[in-house]
Amino acid sequence: MKAVVITEPGDVEALQLIEVEPPEPRTGEVRLRVLAAAVNPVDLDTRAGFFHRAGWITGDRVGLGWDVAGIVDRVGPDVAGLRPGQLVAGLLDRLDVPIGTYAEQLVLPAASVAPVPDGLGAVAAATVPLNATTAIQALRLLDRSAGDRLLITGAAGAVGGYAVPLASAQGWRVTGLARAEDREFVLGAGASDAVTEVEDGAFDAVLDAAVLNDAALAAVRDGGTYVSLTPAALPATDRPVKITAVRVSANATDLAEALRLAAAGTLSVRVAGTLPLAEAGTAHRWLAKGGARGRWVLLP
Ligand SMILES: NC(=O)c1ccc[n+]([C@@H]2O[C@H](COP(=O)([O-])OP(=O)(O)OC[C@H]3O[C@@H](n4cnc5c(N)ncnc54)[C@H](OP(=O)(O)O)[C@@H]3O)[C@@H](O)[C@H]2O)c1
Repeated sequence: MKAVVITEPGDVEALQLIEVEPPEPRTGEVRLRVLAAAVNPVDLDTRAGFFHRAGWITGDRVGLGWDVAGIVDRVGPDVAGLRPGQLVAGLLDRLDVPIGTYAEQLVLPAASVAPVPDGLGAVAAATVPLNATTAIQALRLLDRSAGDRLLITGAAGAVGGYAVPLASAQGWRVTGLARAEDREFVLGAGASDAVTEVEDGAFDAVLDAAVLNDAALAAVRDGGTYVSLTPAALPATDRPVKITAVRVSANATDLAEALRLAAAGTLSVRVAGTLPLAEAGTAHRWLAKGGARGRWVLLP
């Protein structure tokens, strides 16, 4: 089967489409025939060597991709509730792997996979796991009883775009920081306000999905909470602000909830377009340019 990997980090030419032995599921695992794999910023950072330099990747061959939708084609021992032929979505939440989701077949723990509800196709479903799970888990780091004014930066991005409706449903009064042209999307997602700039100290909590760091941290009031999406590079302040970060962890319950909300239309699923697996480099180039709304999805 074919997979996209790197053996040395670098620019898009580092991506190689290679032939590898199909992986076999072990206890608690399932194998998917991949139908769709979304391309995310973490894949670009992996390819470019950010995690090699941080010492988090040491493998000789590294598979790319975290998000996947596909058909279960083989089930390992001790897996309950999943059967061959089922359409599922999954999250591969590890960096240093020889095969990622950019592949024709992939083995995942059953605990990282959830069935795709009717009405949500494989391409749409493949855009949900990483970023909706991250939004769900980031919001758990916040305490609404300490005040309900929440700023979400990057509110029209992948994580931010899911965080806005989730936070609104939890009773937060959400302000979304986004580009001026994204105002309608942000308000439509449930924010009470959409802004392009914010006042210092105006929020009880900030979820910094645009990775603005110091500028977003300044928006938290003394005693408030700041949640980062980049645990390896946290901003700092002398002020009394709780600074924390989410590191997404694959979780079938969170994923099933995210897929349910996506199928119901509560979470907006946005697909920028699809490309063949062999054109992963093109998808990386287009994502790196910025400005895309929705994910590029690779089709093996
Ligand atoms: N810690 C974890 O577990 C975890 C999980 C998932 C993602 N992440 C990380 O989280 C970050 C966000 O991921 P994502 O997929 O949501 O990225 P994304 O889809 O590119 O979203 C970021 C959004 O922020 C906007 N933005 C950037 N600067 C802005 C500014 N000054 N004013 C207004 N809007 C601004 C971008 O607009 P433009 O496109 O116009 O620039 C974009 O809409 C990435 O670094 C990713 O690697 C971490």
